[in-house]
Amino acid sequence: MTEKLLFEGIDEPGLATLPVYEQRGGYESLRKALAMTPEEVLKQLEASNLRGRGGAGFQMGKKVSFLPHGSIEKYLVCNADESEPGTFKDRELMQKNPHMLIEGLIVASYAAGATRSFIYIRGEYVQQADVLDAALREARSAGYIGEDILGSEHSLSLLVHRGAGAYICGEETGLLDSLEGKRGNPRLKPPFPANQGLYQGPTLINNVETLSTVPTIIRMGGEGYAKLGTEQSTGTKLVSVSGHVQRPGNYEVELGIPSREIIYGLAGGPDEGRTVKCWFPGGSSAPVLTADYHDVPYDFESLAKAGSMLGSGAIIVVDDTTPILDVALKTAKFYRHESCGKCTPCREGTNWTVHMLERIDRGEATPMDLEIMASVQDHIIGHCLCVLGDAMAMPIGSMIAKFKDEFEAHIETRRLEGPVPAGTVV
Ligand SMILES: Cc1cc2nc3c(=O)[nH]c(=O)nc-3n(C[C@H](O)[C@H](O)[C@H](O)COP(=O)(O)O)c2cc1C
Repeated sequence: MTEKLLFEGIDEPGLATLPVYEQRGGYESLRKALAMTPEEVLKQLEASNLRGRGGAGFQMGKKVSFLPHGSIEKYLVCNADESEPGTFKDRELMQKNPHMLIEGLIVASYAAGATRSFIYIRGEYVQQADVLDAALREARSAGYIGEDILGSEHSLSLLVHRGAGAYICGEETGLLDSLEGKRGNPRLKPPFPANQGLYQGPTLINNVETLSTVPTIIRMGGEGYAKLGTEQSTGTKLVSVSGHVQRPGNYEVELGIPSREIIYGLAGGPDEGRTVKCWFPGGSSAPVLTADYHDVPYDFESLAKAGSMLGSGAIIVVDDTTPILDVALKTAKFYRHESCGKCTPCREGTNWTVHMLERIDRGEATPMDLEIMASVQDHIIGHCLCVLGDAMAMPIGSMIAKFKDEFEAHIETRRLEGPVPAGTVV
């Protein structure tokens, strides 16, 4: 049974309010951190080996250490865009325990020397944004946010900024452009945000779950936290499980447990009589795995070794009743719709992939189209301005590789049925 860190007491009534959060020891980690120097706090973050929970899995402590030192104005931005299909963990954290995020954010800003901060939240999360605004008002009046926090020399402003519902605004540089009031397009990297981010200033960007983990790290000590999980994937992780399972939801697990325990043990597996055809281990951007991979430990390195990724920590289960063509079309259409269009491989690649899948569906394709479609995916990966294009090409490429026979059977069956008349919606 996983020790609950992020979800400890998550359903306690009133946890979203300051009095209940404080009764449970809330803001004690902030007091403890402010009694240390920023360098000592950074050491704890580094010792914890915490890897970012937003998708890329980059070590948080290392990212903080990349920020320049000195009196230059620095920013901290919390990525609360959570637009990756299948991912809904940050939503629960913000809704039920907003002060944990705020506390983590203040401690991180202290370690990074940042004095201005923002929570960029996706526009659809209206209720969660309202909860955060209310918690922020409480935190301000209690002296946790503002000038000379709790009598220290650290000051911090914090604003909740509501996005307008674009997946690309979850990509860190698209997010920064959007926060600056521009159209949310990704920027060329380098320079990375740690050097040149918001308003050209050094900026630390972290996901909601990453920042919400910071108070626990300070409480347990970095080394104590690192004892949980595996050597390279420390701690616990919230996993959103959706699709064909009997108990979809968010589960907190210690990293490294067999994936089977999440899919079957916690989420109940597919309905009786059905089997798992494939599953996305880390949101819809992750290459799919088949049921043969159920025993892969759920952690960053094991999933990468298995040919996929932990990503945002969202498992989507697809059962044997679903045609793989439908899964591929649904996935590709999402990315085509969300491509910002700034770079050619992504704009054209997502569009042509949808066209080719539709040709299969309409009975107009030949097996050669499958080869062309696979090569299009190879040409997208690694050639885009940001990884949105890769986020489509990786799962689609994996579906073609793992379900080639089924795609070929689709092509043959549809061909024998004859082309669908023009204008038919497929
Ligand atoms: C297209 C795209 C969408 C993304 N969406 C999100 C998102 O919704 N939330 C998030 O935290 N990170 C998202 N990311 C990852 C961020 O760019 C960035 O790596 C992350 O916010 C860093 O925080 P972390 O180190 O705490 O994980 C996205 C990346 C890409 C390429």
